[in-house]
Amino acid sequence: MSTSSDLFERAKLVSPGGVHSPVRAFKGVGGPPRFMTGGQGALITDVDGHNYVDYCMAFGPLILGHGNKLVRDAAVDAIGRGWSLGTAEPYSLELAEYITRRIPWVQSVRFVNSGTEAVMSALRVARGATNRDKILKFEGCYHGHTDSMLIKSGSGLADASQPDSAGLDHATLSGTVVAPLDDEAALEAVFERHGQDLAAAIIEPVPANYGLLPQRRQYLQRVAELCKQHGTLLIFDEVISGFRVGFQGAAGLYGFEPDLVTYGKVIGGGFPVGAYGGKREYMELVAPSGPVYQAGTLSANPVAMCAGLATLRQLSDGSLYTKLEAQGARLEAAFAGQNRVLLQRIGSLFWFYLASPAGGPLRSLKAMQARPAAPFGPVFHTLLEGGIYLAPSAFEVGFLSAAHSSAQVDALAAAMLAATAELPG
Ligand SMILES: Cc1ncc(COP(=O)(O)O)c(C=O)c1O
Repeated sequence: MSTSSDLFERAKLVSPGGVHSPVRAFKGVGGPPRFMTGGQGALITDVDGHNYVDYCMAFGPLILGHGNKLVRDAAVDAIGRGWSLGTAEPYSLELAEYITRRIPWVQSVRFVNSGTEAVMSALRVARGATNRDKILKFEGCYHGHTDSMLIKSGSGLADASQPDSAGLDHATLSGTVVAPLDDEAALEAVFERHGQDLAAAIIEPVPANYGLLPQRRQYLQRVAELCKQHGTLLIFDEVISGFRVGFQGAAGLYGFEPDLVTYGKVIGGGFPVGAYGGKREYMELVAPSGPVYQAGTLSANPVAMCAGLATLRQLSDGSLYTKLEAQGARLEAAFAGQNRVLLQRIGSLFWFYLASPAGGPLRSLKAMQARPAAPFGPVFHTLLEGGIYLAPSAFEVGFLSAAHSSAQVDALAAAMLAATAELPG
């Protein structure tokens, strides 16, 4: 038995499912998860000494790769000064100034510890700003595990909301309305019925939690218009797309100015950081400036703030995004002219769907359900045996980093094409 298998048996005895976040388990692909000891550059190493080229990259934060020297130095220096202060300090100020000077619609920002917290807080601000209770979310978009967001439209009908978890507060859930992606008519119907009660519409402008489902700009435009028309705040959840598809995230990429934005992942360079920010008039509602309460013992932790700033400093001139786009385009090009894998991609985010690319891009759950995929588990394990680590789920996206070489990207394409060679087109 491998050491990973041994550790997994022990872990299951002391933690639910042997993991501390369900996406880390191999439930969707079978077998015990690999226990990793560390990573360097594009590689991650397991307890049995195997190296893998990592395309999960901690689920997104590590846009510079594992062990980036400048991030490491910033974190180590910060530890040397004291790793938790619980006071006003200059490190979060520097990071807040760095962001607000470069993203015009983020005029004020509050740091928290996770994307979940950022979303939970932004929703509270929206309710406080509008004195309304309901929130619109979109089918297939994930916004962390706060009760009101653990819901989607089970049947594809905008109002037939089914919770995704046990243990949710049903009173809270009743305030969540769900609309499908990529469907203007359904969206308009939702606004017609609920518009006057909607505090906010929250969307991943680059939906990346149910596969990667790039939206038409016109659809996002319609969301923005309907929000404006109904006095509903527009929240872009950029926990994945922020500082990833460009320094200004998807808002900058597509040319929108959301009322509020949530961040996580890249903003902390791999340390626990989330943030919410936006227009000053809304952010001034947050305590102690205003009546919307939100707090955190470890918020704006100095080590995480310094690591985040060291990360963003390496991204702000845009040259790394050009390099990542080139690597992404290289991967995409390798899939031209075949009929068994649909590759969807925006910049350094990519997703393999094991079905024919004929029929064009998938933009909604409904479209995905109409084009069933081949099982992902066997392909995942073939790649894993070949030294490639993808996130262990058919619906998780892949992440390229600045540390991935062209040769590694070519090897990923070759391995995926080989592993799917027998699939029907
Ligand atoms: C778009 C989006 N929002 C929110 C979250 C929640 O962030 P966290 O896992 O840091 O709580 C995630 C996590 O993957 C996410 O992808």
